[in-house]
Amino acid sequence: MLVLCIESSCDETAAAVIRDGREILSNVIASQVDVHARYGGVVPELASRQHVEAISVVINSALEEAGVSIDQIEGIGVTRGPGLIGALLVGLSTAKAMAWMLDVPLAAVHHMEGHILATSLENPPDFPFLALAVSGGHTHLYRVDGIGKYRTLGQTLDDAAGEAFDKVAKLLGLGYPGGAVIDRLAQAGNPEAIAFPRPMLHRPNFDFSFSGIKTAVLQYVNKCQEPIGEQHTADIAASFQEAVVEVLTRKTLRAAESEGLERIVVAGGVACNSGLRTRFDELSVKHGVKVFFPSPILCGDNAAMLGVPANYYLEKGCYADNSVNAVSSWTLDSICLD
Ligand code: KG4
Ligand code: ZN
Repeated sequence: MLVLCIESSCDETAAAVIRDGREILSNVIASQVDVHARYGGVVPELASRQHVEAISVVINSALEEAGVSIDQIEGIGVTRGPGLIGALLVGLSTAKAMAWMLDVPLAAVHHMEGHILATSLENPPDFPFLALAVSGGHTHLYRVDGIGKYRTLGQTLDDAAGEAFDKVAKLLGLGYPGGAVIDRLAQAGNPEAIAFPRPMLHRPNFDFSFSGIKTAVLQYVNKCQEPIGEQHTADIAASFQEAVVEVLTRKTLRAAESEGLERIVVAGGVACNSGLRTRFDELSVKHGVKVFFPSPILCGDNAAMLGVPANYYLEKGCYADNSVNAVSSWTLDSICLD
């Protein structure tokens, strides 16, 4: 089955053509980062307008790159939520109109379900597995027993990990989005230079908190008497990243152990982080678990990641009808299929 996937939940307009929920024929992403960078974060109204401008171009490019004509498309998968409501509506309305026009079924997919199943396009882990979903809006640990079968084990009580990266980058004057910049700078810094806190690390649950680390960085920067030079900035970045990576890896491994799971999937934009990837690789051997990461292009927001769940729901006949609406918040547990 040839499925056209459309994603527009935040600041990337994306479309992909996926064959049989496995093969990526195209994966086109139009980033709005330049538009939002000058405001230091995503401006929802601007995001919606940019999606409107880009969506047909992106869809046409995805079809062209895949070498597929529009009438060969047999189903459509689209992100229904969670995300920015105006942004989501652009992708969803387009998907609904196309499904109606082409007379093909529509699957309305949860954004985080896409992230979690992105790795299944490349190196599918067997079920069950533990998923650490880390992005700009989410830091969640899920037990995944199959497609559509998710149980939240823990989540952030305040900032998401990606949000903390972005806020720390902003306060260090490194621009937006900050995750990739901090990652790059951290490679030249000393991760032990500053002892930032590891919130919730020793609590027996699987929840996270990142706003305290961010505040600790702010207080540290405010206390500095001298202007912060290049090496000092790299040390702050490395020490901040080290604190986040330690909390994420240790709590995830503890959750896997407590659930008796031997496979861990790390997904979402923060899964690009080189420190996180290296630490999980090191610890996986010691803890006897296998850790799966999507390739970097499938970590951040993209439409190919919708391919596995969309194909599954379309084959199962779980169609969304034309009255389906976008949702800004939506828990993954509530879509459990038996
Ligand atoms: O999944 P994503 O593209 O969008 C959301 O669904 O939020 O994730 C974006 C987040 C941003 O906060 C960005 O700073 C972060 O992922 N990010 C990173 C890296 N690359 C992107 N964080 C840490 N290290 C990176 N290399
Ligand atoms: Zn995302």
